Amino acid sequence: MQDNTILIIGSTGKTGARVHRLLEQKGYKTRGVSRSTTPSFDWTDPGSWHACLAGVTSAYVTFQPDLAVPEAENTVREFVAEAKAAGLKHLVLLSGRGEDGAVKAERVVQQSGLDWNIVRASWFAQNFSEGFMLDGILSGEMVLPESDTREPFIDVDDIAEVAVAALTKPQLRNRLFEVTGPRAITFKECIDAIAAASGRTIQYKPVPVESYINQLKAHGLPEDIQWLMRELFTVVFDGRNTPVVNGVEEALGRPATDFNEYVKKTLQTGVWDATAQVINAY
Ligand SMILES: NC(=O)c1ccc[n+]([C@@H]2O[C@H](COP(=O)([O-])OP(=O)(O)OC[C@H]3O[C@@H](n4cnc5c(N)ncnc54)[C@H](OP(=O)(O)O)[C@@H]3O)[C@@H](O)[C@H]2O)c1
Repeated sequence: MQDNTILIIGSTGKTGARVHRLLEQKGYKTRGVSRSTTPSFDWTDPGSWHACLAGVTSAYVTFQPDLAVPEAENTVREFVAEAKAAGLKHLVLLSGRGEDGAVKAERVVQQSGLDWNIVRASWFAQNFSEGFMLDGILSGEMVLPESDTREPFIDVDDIAEVAVAALTKPQLRNRLFEVTGPRAITFKECIDAIAAASGRTIQYKPVPVESYINQLKAHGLPEDIQWLMRELFTVVFDGRNTPVVNGVEEALGRPATDFNEYVKKTLQTGVWDATAQVINAY
C-alpha cells in the first residue's frame, strides 16, 4: 500500500542528506537509505532494493559511484523496472553534466512511464569541503590534474532545493533542470578563495593526469574509481561544461549561489579550521 513516503537513496551523502533534511522540515514522510541504514540499499545488490521501495510514491535517486560508469545504464534500468512494479509514481534522478553514460541513464528514467525529473549538475563546490578535494585543502597541497578549464561549481544546497521542489511541486514534473553555479572558475581560483578566507596556506600543484591517477593507485583506490577519475578529469573536464546555465533559477525563481558565498558559509562549519585533520575523504 502507498503511504506517500518519499524515498531518498544516498541519504547520508552530500545532496541526499540535505534533501532528507529539507523534506523532514516541510513535514513530508521520508525513508532515507544507503548501505548503512535499515533497511539497507546497495546499488551492487538488487536484492536489497525491494524492502526500501515498499510503500513509497516518490524517490530522490543518487547513483554510486557515478552515472558515467559503464554499468550505470543497466543498473538504473533494472532499478526503474523494480520501482515501477513496487508502485513508485515519480522519480527524481541526480545526474552529472557532460557525461555520455549519464545521458543514457537519464533516458531510461525519461522513457520509464513514471513521472520524472532530472537534476543534471555541474561539479559540486562541496567537493572542497565534504568530498575528495578536502584532504588537499587540509594538507596544504592540492594535487590535481593540470587544467585551466573553467567550471561553474554548484553549491549542493542549491541542488537539494531544486530536488525538493521537483519532488513536491507537481507543476515542475517531467522536466530536466540543468544546474550550475553563476560563474565559471578554475581550480586555482577556487583554492585561492578558500585559502584567503580560511587563512590556510594551500599550494595548488597541477600534475599530468597519468601521474595523478598513479597517485590514486598508490593510495589503494580501486580500478573502477581510477577509471572514473580519468574520465571525469579528461572527457568531462575538457571545457564542455564551462557554460553557465540557469536551471536553479528555472526551478526556484532565484539565482544560483556564488562560490564566494559557499566559501563564506562553509567557513562557519569549521571544516577548514586550523585544527581540522586530514581524513582521506576519497
Ligand atoms: N561530486 C560532484 O561534483 C558531482 C557532480 C555531478 C553529479 N554528481 C553525482 O552525484 C552522485 C552522488 O551524490 P552525492 O554527492 O549526493 O552522494 P555522496 O556524497 O557521494 O554520498 C554517497 C552516498 O551514497 C551512499 N552509497 C555509497 N555507495 C553506495 C552503494 N553502493 N549503494 C547505495 N548507496 C551507496 C553513501 O552511504 P553509505 O556509505 O552508507 O552507503 C552516501 O549516502 C553521483 O551519482 C555523482 O555522479 C556528483
